[in-house]
Amino acid sequence: MKNEELISLALDARKKSYSPYSGFRVGAALICKNGKVFCGCNIENSAFSPTCCAERTAFFKAISEGETDFEKIAIVGGKGGSEPEDFCAPCGVCRQVMNEFCGDDFFVILAKSESEYKEYSLGEILPFSFGKSDVK
Ligand code: THU
Repeated sequence: MKNEELISLALDARKKSYSPYSGFRVGAALICKNGKVFCGCNIENSAFSPTCCAERTAFFKAISEGETDFEKIAIVGGKGGSEPEDFCAPCGVCRQVMNEFCGDDFFVILAKSESEYKEYSLGEILPFSFGKSDVK
């Protein structure tokens, strides 16, 4: 799938964001190595800490459906309902979740629109990480 298509799915997922407290709407589209795509939005909570980011929603949907080999994720986010004005980088917790299942061949697309985006490897955005091998 082309990056533009994955971003378009993330923009669609963002429309479903439940973010009445921050007004910050995030969408993510995660593609597996087998081509399956799982989308997610951020889901906030009145008690705040149960809030789940869009990226983790997408990852947990995929993992709970038996998928653990991931290729790439597209992320879009920003205040309000209109197109994002800036790039939205994944929070540290989401990077750590990515690190559990993904290696150096996993890529993170930060997009404002289908045509305006940047792409990073997981290693670039999470250097010197803590992972499975540290616990073994
Ligand atoms: N959020 C995400 O969904 N993903 C990110 O990468 C950053 C933050 C959400 C969490 C919360 O609902 C809102 O954005 C403001 O932090």
